[in-house]
Amino acid sequence: MRANREIIQKLKSAAEKTCRPGEYSLFFAPSRINVIGEHIDYNGGKVLPCAIEVGTYGYLREIEEPVLRLHSLNNPQYHEVPLDERPDPQRGWLNYPLGMLHMLREEGYQTGGLEGVIFGNIPTGSGLSSSSSLEMLIGFAASHFFNRGEIAPVTLALLGKRTENEFIGVASGIMDQFAIAMGKRDHGILLDTSSLQYRYVPLDLKDHVFVVLNTKKPRRLVDSKYNERRGECEQALEILQPLFGIEHLCELQREQLAEGLDALPSDLLQKRTRHCVTENMRVAEAVQALELGNLETLGMLLNQSHISLRDDYEVTGEHLDAIVEAAWDAGAIGARMTGAGFGGCAIALVQQQRAGEFIRQVDAKYSSKTGIRGEYFLSRSGNGPERLED
Ligand code: GLA
Repeated sequence: MRANREIIQKLKSAAEKTCRPGEYSLFFAPSRINVIGEHIDYNGGKVLPCAIEVGTYGYLREIEEPVLRLHSLNNPQYHEVPLDERPDPQRGWLNYPLGMLHMLREEGYQTGGLEGVIFGNIPTGSGLSSSSSLEMLIGFAASHFFNRGEIAPVTLALLGKRTENEFIGVASGIMDQFAIAMGKRDHGILLDTSSLQYRYVPLDLKDHVFVVLNTKKPRRLVDSKYNERRGECEQALEILQPLFGIEHLCELQREQLAEGLDALPSDLLQKRTRHCVTENMRVAEAVQALELGNLETLGMLLNQSHISLRDDYEVTGEHLDAIVEAAWDAGAIGARMTGAGFGGCAIALVQQQRAGEFIRQVDAKYSSKTGIRGEYFLSRSGNGPERLED
């Protein structure tokens, strides 16, 4: 892929000002949207994310000293740290590259110092997984510089997940890193999170496109709420496991759902479980709809997914609900929140030639309801991390 000229120029002139001279290479790692299958990657469900063409760029070189010296054009703070440091919340985004290198070393791979400039053209804090994008960028660069490019993408994804779980302290699933590391243009990835088996599903949207709708609502409490939801699912599983002999909540079948719900002691655990089981079914139906070219059905499933995340899983919130409702009113054939929720982004399936008018209508409605101007862009699905020619 040839990088966006403007971005390369930005990276190079920042490197000239702030970095030492040397042989730099240009890398890119995408971010992701999730088409459907939300909050079930830590419940053994199947998910259908795809990498998208916005993401994180790095203009990097290897250095002798055992330090990470990274300048971010998005966030200028905290730019140097020794490789053997432990995570520190004060250090912000630099914990992700540091954690990734730490996990690579623990797994027996070579690592070393890196210097350079990074820039993400992902709207920040928007739930499109800028952190996984950064992890995969650094993992890919470390594979290139220190391991002859031989670290498999799935290994990078698993180490990115460990970075989140063990270094950062968020109990997230594998979906984001897998979608990014394994991205393939014009395809979604149907990933079985219980076995890591996957297959590519053509995202043949005919004359439709996915529009990303950013609520611009800063996400708050995402990590703690995320861990809370995960805990609730574990509680439900503990009760259902001996009754149904299941390893994961999403193994509960449609015909077992009513009996399973009856066995749970609270309305809250029932709602969480109902979301997981029905969402997992919607993923299978969505793949079938895509393969049959039935976009109306796909759209209806996206809408049902949002409603389930709103009413049963309770991770949407006022702003995501407002933007999704505006999208439904403006004629999307389907729309839903995407990612962890609690603010961040939604996606809408829209006729391409109507996209401009659609965005105008959504923004008018959304901003009059919330007082916030949203941010909107069309997203095409893209490839995984790569070294770019400059
Ligand atoms: C975040 C996590 C993922 C996944 C989604 C919700 O993006 O990183 O693992 O759980 O939320 O589907």
